[in-house]
Amino acid sequence: MQIDLSGQSILVTGASRGIGAAIARRLAGSGARVAVHYGQGQDAAERLAAEIGHGAEVFRGDLADAEACASLWAEVEIRFGSIDALVNNAGIAIESPLGAPVADWLTDWERTMAVNLTATGLLCRSAIAHFEKQHGARPKGGRIVNIASRAAFRGDQPDYFAYAASKAGMVALTRSIARAFGKAGIKAFIVAPGFTRTQMAQAFIDQYGEDYAAGDIALDRMTEPDDIAPTVAFLLSGLADHATGTTIDLNAGSYVR
Ligand SMILES: NC(=O)c1ccc[n+]([C@@H]2O[C@H](COP(=O)([O-])OP(=O)(O)OC[C@H]3O[C@@H](n4cnc5c(N)ncnc54)[C@H](OP(=O)(O)O)[C@@H]3O)[C@@H](O)[C@H]2O)c1
Repeated sequence: MQIDLSGQSILVTGASRGIGAAIARRLAGSGARVAVHYGQGQDAAERLAAEIGHGAEVFRGDLADAEACASLWAEVEIRFGSIDALVNNAGIAIESPLGAPVADWLTDWERTMAVNLTATGLLCRSAIAHFEKQHGARPKGGRIVNIASRAAFRGDQPDYFAYAASKAGMVALTRSIARAFGKAGIKAFIVAPGFTRTQMAQAFIDQYGEDYAAGDIALDRMTEPDDIAPTVAFLLSGLADHATGTTIDLNAGSYVR
């Protein structure tokens, strides 16, 4: 089976490091032109775009800012013309003790929702409008992969309630898109990783220990970003379109359901 993404232009958010960088690399390796989005990591994003080639370009945008989400999509559209797929990967996991003063807890909650859920909603909205544009008699169509988390289904520690809730919101959003826009040629998928060795996971490991992170997996090593990326390429290839709305769990057997 050949994964061929040549001719596709794909926006990957949070591609400056971690899972997003691995996804961008894999998509370009399969022939796609990638819009490498970053927030703070300009140097890393530029290095990655130069490395993966295939016409990749970098785009900045603070996804905590709703206006930046709309401009991000518009900028990619101007540079790339047509966009075939969107991967909402950028995300944050803020440790927020339940016992903290309510104002602090609420600040963390709102920031988590803004980056993980609102930005995803806004970018999906732009993508749907773009994908629905008529090309002759048929809608153009397109694909969306939203990177949620095992936490959306299994739940998370009390310090990460906002994270789990934001990821569950992404799941409901993705399923709704899949059901509502299939006839317009739009397919939407959820990828739900478990612990994956990145900067985000490191913060959790520092707090709870490597044993906690690795202790409940069925496999003999922790998931790496490169273990996530091939599934995203497969979902965007067109070979899995009839699985629209589905979730693929990539959690090394730590939460089998
Ligand atoms: N690692 C895990 O164990 C794990 C498990 C389940 C799900 N996930 C999900 O997988 C996705 C990627 O996670 P990761 O582990 O690769 O995380 P990571 O290493 O912390 O990378 C996060 C990425 O998101 C971007 N980002 C964060 N806040 C942003 C903002 N306000 N505006 C723009 N970009 C922003 C960062 O960009 P800059 O650095 O350029 O600012 C970075 O590229 C996330 O959605 C995460 O929730 C991860």
